[in-house]
Formats: sequence, structure tokens, C-alpha cells
Amino acid sequence: MAEAYRDLDPETMPRSPGLTYQQLLDADSHGVPDVLRLQSPKDMGLVEYPVTRYTTATYHEKEVEHLWKKVWQMACREEEIPQPGDHHRYDIAGMSFLVVRTESGEIKAYPNACLHRGRMLKEFNGNAAELRCPFHGFCWKLDGSLNDIPADWDFPHIDRDKFSLPEIPVATWEGFIFINPDQQCAPFADFIKDLADQFQRWQPRNLFKAAHVAKVMPCNWKIAQEAFCEAYHVNGTHPQILRSLGDVNSQVDIWENCARVITPGGTTSPLLDYEVPDKELLRANMDLPHDAEVPEIPAGVNVRTYLADRARENLRPMAGQKVDEYCDAELVDSIDYTLFPNFHPWGAFNGIVYRFRPNGRDHRSSIMECMMLAPFQGERPPPAEVVWLEEDQSWSRALGFLGKVFDQDAFNMPRVQEGLETTYQTGVVLSGYQESKVRWLHHKLTEWVGE
Ligand code: FES
Ligand SMILES: [Fe+2]
Repeated sequence: MAEAYRDLDPETMPRSPGLTYQQLLDADSHGVPDVLRLQSPKDMGLVEYPVTRYTTATYHEKEVEHLWKKVWQMACREEEIPQPGDHHRYDIAGMSFLVVRTESGEIKAYPNACLHRGRMLKEFNGNAAELRCPFHGFCWKLDGSLNDIPADWDFPHIDRDKFSLPEIPVATWEGFIFINPDQQCAPFADFIKDLADQFQRWQPRNLFKAAHVAKVMPCNWKIAQEAFCEAYHVNGTHPQILRSLGDVNSQVDIWENCARVITPGGTTSPLLDYEVPDKELLRANMDLPHDAEVPEIPAGVNVRTYLADRARENLRPMAGQKVDEYCDAELVDSIDYTLFPNFHPWGAFNGIVYRFRPNGRDHRSSIMECMMLAPFQGERPPPAEVVWLEEDQSWSRALGFLGKVFDQDAFNMPRVQEGLETTYQTGVVLSGYQESKVRWLHHKLTEWVGE
């Protein structure tokens, strides 16, 4: 069992010089919601985590057995299967599951495998009146009960009433569908509690999936994921955004099943040893070239407030007058939540969601995804189809400015894998606070999978 972690006192713990995130919030032009005032820093120890977690098939196989076959995991959005008969194929670590909307509107999930000789039932997402296997034609109703066996005189040994597709546990939260391959798993409500408490104000269920991009990355899924779990790498990997990002002002909070890193935008990194004029801060934030016109900031308005005002007006046509309740921080900061093991919904109103999965049985490749959720007026627009990037296609091609930053992260990933395959170190070294969310992930992994 992994050692428990200890609460830290936010007032006295060791931290970067410069303003704290909480001090930045004090200058917000709107009321700051309680959820952003929470602080939950943890002393997670200073242990190293074995390199073999990233490099060996043995550890991957342990993850499959003890994590992926056991844990609640986000499979898709409810909006992806709105009608009876809609089904979504969710694959994880070499296994495949079908999430199905039944006639009554209920959501059920089944192993994506025929009970005759095991063929995958559905290869593609779509709509069907029944679940018929393409091999010999065994057929089940949407609710999982047996519908038809071709030449059933030849199967006197099958009890039709008992030959239903096995159901696995399903739950929904804020428009996301979660499944658990373990029929004896612990209740979802307990698992999601920390995250659910904190998202009450933001309600991603009211958003629609406006974009979804996926790519196979040549590294272990944890290498990809961990690149999005700390702001400590910004200085080394994304120096161009330091003019408008408070990387070392980040606040890291750890709870039981979820954790978050909040990195303030619209403020200059304390690591820069020169004054950055507001105009340059804005230029960096808006990703404008050095000779482009930069908008005038009204006198007496701080840059965070100015950027938040612009974001409010951008959102207003779709989100309505509610935008006036959003504080500056909710519009300009990166509030990256993680629900163990791999689901990353950003807090507040920007609607970014990441997910990281092993790519089938290969521990040296992974699937990285980014979704964009957005508000809408009137009827819910259809959710975006997933766009798969080819190996040589950049993230910026699909995701603009955010994609450029992703490309820098992605550039590191296979090189981290190569380095870890080579290193004479037995463990990865992590900082105490700034990388404590990565520590938390490994701490949880120890709990679920073992050393
Ligand atoms: S394997 Fe599905 S009907 Fe035979
Ligand atoms: Fe990054």
C-alpha cells in the first residue's frame, strides 16, 4: 500500500518566489467562486518512481490487469449516443467495449464480443436496431437479451434466457459516460465525488463537443499524460509563452481521486528578469507577430481583466448573460483537473478536455486526445467526429494556438521514451511541489497496480 500523503500549510510551505495564485485572485474584477479559493497542497514525499513503469511490457500487463480492467474510465459523451440504437465503441489497452443507448433510453455497456465464437460485435460507432454479429449472425437486442440464433435447432445446449450479453457498470457525470470493466467495482458516486463537488458551478453537461482530435503518440501513455500535469516545464519547453503565463505562480491541489494545477494566464512569468510591458504581454497572449497591431488596453484596467472582458464578449452570443457572473480567473487561467487515471476536464468555461490511453497492447505508444466543449443556444448541435492526426501531422493544424503548444510537448515525448530506455537511473526524479500532481498519479498507480 502506498504511504498516505500529508497536508501542507499553504502559508508556510516551500514555494516559488513571487505572487501566489491566491494573491492574483485578489485583484479579480469579479467575485471569485469558492472552488478557486480551495487550497489542498500535499506533501507527497520525495521518492523516485521506477523507470520500468514506462519501459516494460511487464508493468503494462500489470496496469491492464489491475488498472484498466478495474477502474472507472470515461468512454464517451452522452451526446454521442442520443438515440435508441446508437452505439459507441470504446477501446482500452487491447480490450473493446460497446456503449449502447437502449430502446428505453437507458445506457448500457457490454464487452464488444460475440457470445458464439467471440468476434467483435461492432467495429464502428453508429446506429442499429439490434446487435448482430457479422460472423454467423447471432443477434442480441439493444438491452442485451438474446434475439436470434441462426439455425437454433443446432444449439440445444444454449439457454436462451441466460444467453444475454454481460453488462458492465455504466455511470454518467456532466454529460460524460463512464464505464467500468469490473462487474464488482466500487460505486461511481464515491469515485467521482471530489471532482463532482468542484464542478457544480461549471456544468459541462450544458456544453456540446465542438471539436475532438486524436493522435497516436510514440511513447508510454504516462509520458504523454504527465506532460500536461505540471507547469514546471513551461520555462524549458514553451519559453515563448512566459511573457503571458504565470508558470511558477501555479497552484497545485491534491485530493483523493482528483487533483488540479491552476496556472494563471495574462500575467508575466516571475522567471523573466526584465519588465514586460502590458502591450507585449498581450501580444504574447494573443499570439500576434512582433509587428502586428496590438489592441489598446483602457487606462487603469489590468491585463487579466482586459483579457477576461474580451473572453466574456466572445462567449456571450452562445453562453448568454451568464458570462457576467464568470470571474476573470475563470476566463483566462488554465485550470487543469485530472481524475485518476487519465481524464482531464479543464475547470471553468473554456471546455478543454484531455484523455490519455495506452495504444492497445503496446506500452511504447499511446493515444492522446483533446476535445473542445462549447456553449450553444437553442437545439444541441451534433457532436464533432473525432479527427485522427497522422504521424506526420501537427497538432497546430487542428487546434491552432493550443496546438502549437501541444506540438512542443509532443516533440519531447518520444525523446523521453528513448531517454528512459537508455538511462542508468532506476527512478524518475520529481520535484516536491510543482510536480506533485505527477507524484499523485504515481502514488495512485502504486495503490492500484503496485510497484
Ligand atoms: S462469432 Fe458471432 S455469430 Fe459466430
Ligand atoms: Fe506543455
